[in-house]
Amino acid sequence: MAILEIKHVSKFFGGLAANSDVSFEINPGMIMGLIGPNGAGKTTLFNCITGYYPPSKGEVIFDGRRMNGLQPDKVCKLGMARTWQKVRPLAKMSVVDNVMVGALCRTNSLKLAREMAMEQVRVVRLEHRSNFLAGGLPIGERKKLEVARVLATQPKLLLLDEVMGGLNPAESEEIIQLILDIRKLGITQMVIEHDMKAIMRISDRIVVLNSGEKLAEGTPDEIVNNPEVVAAYLGSE
Ligand SMILES: Nc1ncnc2c1ncn2[C@@H]1O[C@H](COP(=O)(O)OP(=O)(O)OP(=O)(O)O)[C@@H](O)[C@H]1O
Ligand SMILES: [Mg+2]
Repeated sequence: MAILEIKHVSKFFGGLAANSDVSFEINPGMIMGLIGPNGAGKTTLFNCITGYYPPSKGEVIFDGRRMNGLQPDKVCKLGMARTWQKVRPLAKMSVVDNVMVGALCRTNSLKLAREMAMEQVRVVRLEHRSNFLAGGLPIGERKKLEVARVLATQPKLLLLDEVMGGLNPAESEEIIQLILDIRKLGITQMVIEHDMKAIMRISDRIVVLNSGEKLAEGTPDEIVNNPEVVAAYLGSE
């Protein structure tokens, strides 16, 4: 059974269809890539899936349950968590305290939340920074902190919005390895990324959005060889 079913989802902002009749499924354990030009509607789809916006039309089914209308905190408790394209850590709190905020979604015990947070700080390899103020971290480490924070909510499905955006090749490689490590933990992932080499390497399947519509879906090989995708997006890369 699919862990996530997107059924005919549309999202309108006034006259603009940011998402238009988008449908696809994600099976447990897989990495689904989500690509498309700037303004294609990728982040909006994440917002519709995770409860930040209600879809204007269509349904989001997670783990067999209809999510439409549920608030983000409820969605997170049910096991879906997302990172943000624009990273905003709690700047005046330490790295481990930032991650605790995620863990507190699962426990009221500060002691347990701290242990859970440290575990995720280790997963993203930020142990040496655990007591640093988050606001002082360079961008590469902020992105890792963002991932640790959502991992601490113990998601079944993780949605990553451009976690490699603005990183140099060495930093991107670390994130790629992290995403592959997370897959080994059995967590399903949906990944928005503009770095085509990276998305081709990590994705089992890819959905392409263009002007809010699903332009194509397939394996990485099928996507790079799809003439419509090349014309709309890849040709300009
Ligand atoms: N809250 C909003 N109100 C009005 N328009 C919005 C809102 N959020 C997004 N849009 C519009 O919806 C369209 C899709 O935006 P979205 O941010 O989802 O694109 P994207 O694929 O994530 O782009 P990028 O690759 O640049 O991050 C854009 O035209 C954007 O201006
Ligand atoms: Mg976006």
